[in-house]
Amino acid sequence: MNAKVHAQRRKQLMRMMGDDSIAILPAAPTLIRNRDVEHHFRQDSDFFYLSGFPEPEAVIVLIPNRKKGQFVLFCRERDPLKETWNGYRYGPEGAVEHFAADEAYPIEELEDILPGLMEHCESVHYTIGLNPEFDKHVMNCVNRLRRSSRGGVHAPYEFVSLDHLLHDMRLFKNRDELRLMKKAAKISVKAHINAMKACQPGMYEYELEAEFLYEFKRNSASWAYPSIVGGGANGCVLHYTENSQPLNDGDLVLIDAGAEYGGYAADITRTFPVNGKYNAAQKEIYELVLAAQDAAIKKTLPGNHWNDPHNAAVKVLTKGMVELGLLKGKPAELIKKGAYSKYYMHRTGHWIGMDVHDVGDYKVDDEWRLLEPGMTLTVEPGLYIPSGSRGAKRWWNIGVRIEDDIVVTKDGCELLTKGLPRTVKEVEAVMAG
Ligand code: GLY
Ligand code: MN
Ligand code: MN
Repeated sequence: MNAKVHAQRRKQLMRMMGDDSIAILPAAPTLIRNRDVEHHFRQDSDFFYLSGFPEPEAVIVLIPNRKKGQFVLFCRERDPLKETWNGYRYGPEGAVEHFAADEAYPIEELEDILPGLMEHCESVHYTIGLNPEFDKHVMNCVNRLRRSSRGGVHAPYEFVSLDHLLHDMRLFKNRDELRLMKKAAKISVKAHINAMKACQPGMYEYELEAEFLYEFKRNSASWAYPSIVGGGANGCVLHYTENSQPLNDGDLVLIDAGAEYGGYAADITRTFPVNGKYNAAQKEIYELVLAAQDAAIKKTLPGNHWNDPHNAAVKVLTKGMVELGLLKGKPAELIKKGAYSKYYMHRTGHWIGMDVHDVGDYKVDDEWRLLEPGMTLTVEPGLYIPSGSRGAKRWWNIGVRIEDDIVVTKDGCELLTKGLPRTVKEVEAVMAG
């Protein structure tokens, strides 16, 4: 993404904000992992979307009604000593030169300069509560203006969340964004295939996790979320990330893992047999989930409601659960009562983009949103049958999820996660090869 793209985005946002406003976005905070070791820094998605600026301790300020200097960036100053220890910093000069900031100042000057930038604005577009530490700086600036009101200084009247406007922009992906998402998907697909090929009974879950870390890193990517590698009963734990147990002959293994590349995520799940061959019971459950995914993908069309793919998956799964003896009753009644949620307790998808669970409203005016070209989402039905469940024992400890990423197009949808085995036959062929 080049500086021009970020400039266009800022311009579009400022147009929507209106003239009497100011937007303030802080960079992501750094987080201590233990003692003096920090977690790897990952820039805030909104901040990165509008600037491409990669450093912590920075703040974007957008002021549409300023003739000159609509984009002001506060950041760390250059510092030879600190750069020797921790690496390069752009500094305010670099922010102007490489990130098209109209003006840039040292971050320490924020509270001196920001009140002056706010002074002639009515509303402050700032999402309160996400970063309580930074909230204090914003409040200090507003209060400074309020204290000067007797001298004729004007303080803003209202705070408006930035999410509504900005997240609607982020919901629609352009060609450059889709290119990055396809690359994230391609890296992830290769890693899933590597894991299928590497899997042997007696291996540990973390050994398969390592296949993903290796493939991601060697492609200049990282994980978009901690990988889930659950063998046997662990496949029924939705957010299992311990990945510490041996993989047993005769069990399934569920892997939910995706790369982040260029700031964009992939999110893929496959469930395959540890020994390379699904047994009859596993195959039956797998094919039911696959049919649900097919039904959901068929409903991922422009003009359909956000909820249509989910409803299609629930219909197939519920009917299947009755046939398998997991539920008793009429499918339509069971759907109405939500009985399926005993074995299918999550939704069939979510928006995906810079954040794996990406931003964007799912309802507009209390109605499910219509799908439109450029929206990207996952389709991820599953069925999780822990031991002790109703029905035959042969279903117990089978947990299956199949998850792919999709972009809505003008005439339908396109699979972003192409090339990864999905059917029983395809998975078994890759594992045998
Ligand atoms: N990997 C998280 C999810 O599937 O939503
Ligand atoms: Mn997902
Ligand atoms: Mn997932």
